[in-house]
Amino acid sequence: MAAERGHWGSRLGFILAAGGSAVGLGNIWGFPYKTGENGGGLFVLVYLACVALIGLPIMMAEIFIGKTTQTSPVGAFRAMSRPGSAWMGVGWLGVVAAFIILSFYSVIAGWSLHYVWISITTTFSDMTPGEIGGIFGQVVTNPALCSFWHVLFMVLTISIVVAGVKAGLETWSRILMPALFILLLVLLVYAMVKGNFAQGLKFLFVPNPDNFKWSSVPEAMGLAFFSLSLGMGALITYGSYLRTDEDLVSASITVSLLDTSVALLAGIILFPIIFAADGNPAGGPGLVFTTIPIAFAEIPGGVVLAPLFFLLLTFTALTSSISLLEVATAYFIDERGWTRTKATLVTGGAVMAIGIPSAISGGSRLFGAGMQTLTDPLYRGEGKDWFNALVDLSFNLMLPIGGLGIALFVAWRVDDAVREAGFSAGSKLGRLYWGWLWLLRYLVPVAIVVVLFNALGIFELLFGGGNV
Ligand code: TRP
Repeated sequence: MAAERGHWGSRLGFILAAGGSAVGLGNIWGFPYKTGENGGGLFVLVYLACVALIGLPIMMAEIFIGKTTQTSPVGAFRAMSRPGSAWMGVGWLGVVAAFIILSFYSVIAGWSLHYVWISITTTFSDMTPGEIGGIFGQVVTNPALCSFWHVLFMVLTISIVVAGVKAGLETWSRILMPALFILLLVLLVYAMVKGNFAQGLKFLFVPNPDNFKWSSVPEAMGLAFFSLSLGMGALITYGSYLRTDEDLVSASITVSLLDTSVALLAGIILFPIIFAADGNPAGGPGLVFTTIPIAFAEIPGGVVLAPLFFLLLTFTALTSSISLLEVATAYFIDERGWTRTKATLVTGGAVMAIGIPSAISGGSRLFGAGMQTLTDPLYRGEGKDWFNALVDLSFNLMLPIGGLGIALFVAWRVDDAVREAGFSAGSKLGRLYWGWLWLLRYLVPVAIVVVLFNALGIFELLFGGGNV
């Protein structure tokens, strides 16, 4: 056992760090492209409902577990049930998910780093939109390039985590989160002045059934989990560095609001710019990487703002990736008694290695086309390469299953008195307890099970309708 566990320096430190974990590629890369693909306003509405009714209660449950047990997920489930309990599996799933998610997350962050570089060294305004859009394809199919930036991003992540809870995680979140907000505000003013603001807002906020499919609902939920950093113990781990008398209720509400506002802000910034440049909102995962440089090339001022935008994207990815690495690192510190340095270097090194197949997916026979053919039956003819298979696995299965485990555990297994005391400690909002418990007991599990069944194609199997 490590002699002295780290703690946050202050409540604000925790909020910035947890907010930093939540705000990330999910908000600025994921939210706009999924909103674009699913038709806009109606998807946003479902997303907001998922955040408020499913995400927020789970966030409170995660922070509750961490704060109460003062240890990382595997040990936390043991402490609240008994040694050898099957509930510890939920903690294990989280540690495994940390490796998997970070391995592809770092690849996307690596693209972003590369785009900082190319938007400084390339004059987009000299190129046609087709040429600019083509850059993304060239980047993702270049194995050496993607591996290089992925490894560099992991080095950055490791160098922050190795410094520990206060000196590393908290200090960097304190620097990067305000920087992010300033950059967002600059871009917001820019979008208001130069973008097609009215059309952008209409797309985002007027519910419109076009392009909204049944599958948009599970997608919105998966995105909410991912964006709020739920379902794999990241917030159990962060909560374990809170003092036991801290108010988890208002902290969770603040972090969720922060996360949701950044996602909405990203949409409010991106869509007006995309529409002003006649871009396609349904451009898929490449949306940010193709449309933004095209838009910035056509709009004056883009020379400065394009690198700034990708810098921002990289910053937010960094405050999230440190929380993913911290889950794996904390496991080895708390459960195996490793030093922080050893734990960080070993887990970070492992993620670097596991990420290589994702980094080379776009340009590799084995992990790209080969893997696509292999997974064809699984995805009904739309096989996924290694990278996309892992994205899918974590969004659609690991995080919802983890979230379900956490909700069921806290709602049905944990001792009533412990749960109520932990929830209300230090909080003026303790009376929300019964509402929280009700959501966690009934609505949250039912909703997640429905979504999981959907993801696994069980409804199609039972009721037909799909082309299985
Ligand atoms: N929430 C981050 C984002 O939106 C990603 C992330 C960090 C995450 N930690 C996590 C996702 C834990 C799931 C679980 O980009």
